[in-house]
Amino acid sequence: MDENNIDQTAIQQAGDIIKNGGLVAFPTETVYGLGGDALNPESSAKIYAAKGRPSDNPLIVHIADMDALYPIVKSVPEAAVRLADKYWPGPLTMVFKKKETVPDETTGGLDTVAVRMPSHKVALALISASGGYIAAPSANVSGRPSPTLAQHVAEDMNGRIDMIIDGGAVEIGLESTIVDMTSKQPLILRPGYITKEMLEQVLRTEAAYDKAVLGVTSADEHPRAPGMKYKHYAPAGDMVIVKGSEDQVISYINEQAAEKRAQGEKVGVIATQETCMKYTAEDVVNIGARTDEEAIASHLYATLRAFDEAGMTCIYSEEFDTPRIGQAIMNRLIRAAAHQIIEV
Ligand code: TXA
Ligand code: MG
Repeated sequence: MDENNIDQTAIQQAGDIIKNGGLVAFPTETVYGLGGDALNPESSAKIYAAKGRPSDNPLIVHIADMDALYPIVKSVPEAAVRLADKYWPGPLTMVFKKKETVPDETTGGLDTVAVRMPSHKVALALISASGGYIAAPSANVSGRPSPTLAQHVAEDMNGRIDMIIDGGAVEIGLESTIVDMTSKQPLILRPGYITKEMLEQVLRTEAAYDKAVLGVTSADEHPRAPGMKYKHYAPAGDMVIVKGSEDQVISYINEQAAEKRAQGEKVGVIATQETCMKYTAEDVVNIGARTDEEAIASHLYATLRAFDEAGMTCIYSEEFDTPRIGQAIMNRLIRAAAHQIIEV
C-alpha cells in the first residue's frame, strides 16, 4: 500500500479485523508493527502468542491524535506535551501512568503505559479505522531482528496472523526512542532516531539514560523497559563487534575469518562502503557509507536476517559510532552480539 495513495477499502477491512479481535501487521516509519486492539485483553494475549513473547513484556499503544491520549493515561506532564508538540507524530514513545481503560494484559501488569503516535500515513489510517488504539510490538518472532520489510513479517508471522499490509521498506529501520515521563527527570529507556540531545532541546533540562541502555544492569536489577532484559535482535550465528583503528580491525577480522573458515564455519562481515573491499570473508555486506548513519540504521536488521538466511555461523561487525543515531545503532548491535566486543 502506497502511503500517498491509501486504499481505504483495505484499511477498512484491516480495521474491522482489529475491532473483531484479530491481528494485522502494518508499516510504521520505524519498523513493521503487529497490531491488535489495545483495549481488548484477548487481542493482547494473541499478540504474545503470535510472537512467542513473554507476557510480562508490555506493548506500546499507538494512537492517531492527541485527543486519544487523555482517556488512557492518568496525567500528561507539561514536558510530555512539549515533546508531543515537537516529535509526534514520529519515532518517539512516551511512558505515562495508565488509567483502568488499558487492560493489564496490554501493559504486562505494569501501572504505566507506553504510547506512540507514528507518522506513517498507513499506520495512522489503520489506527483510526480500528477504534483509535492499536497495541503493536515489532512484528518479528521474539528474539529475531525487527522487520523492515513486509517480507520479513511474512517469514516470521505467516499463518499466525490475519493480515499483513505491505507498505514497502520502512524509512528509519530502528525502533522508536522510549522515554519514561513518570519520573521527575525524563528517562530514556531505549535510544532511537530521536536522540538525547533532541529531547533536551525541547525539555530545556537534562534527560538521563536508564542503566539498561548503557548495559550496566546485573541480574538482580530490572531495566525499566522490561523488553531490554531479553536477548534481542539476535542473528542465529555467533556475532562479535570489533573495535579499533580501521587497519587493525580489518586485519583482525581477516585473520579470524580465515581461521574460522578453516574450521568449517560460514563467516559474514558487516562492513562499510569504505572498507568492504578489504575483507576476505565469504560474505561481506556493505551496510552504507561511514558518514551515512541513516543508511546504516535502515540496513542493519535486513543484514542480520540475510545472514540467517545464508546460514552464517560466525559474524563480525565493525563499530558504528556515528554522532546522532550511532547510540541507537550500537545499542541494537551490541545486543545482537550478546555483548561480545573485542578491542584490537
Ligand atoms: O518503533 C516502535 O516502537 C515499534 C513500532 C511497531 O511502533 N514497536 C516496538 O515495540 O518496538 P516492541 O514491543 O518491540 O518494543 C516495546 C518496548 C519493549 O522493550 C517494552 O518492554 C517497552 O517498550 N515498554 C512497553 N511498555 C512499557 C512501559 N509501560 N514501561 C516501560 N517500558 C515499556
Ligand atoms: Mg521488538
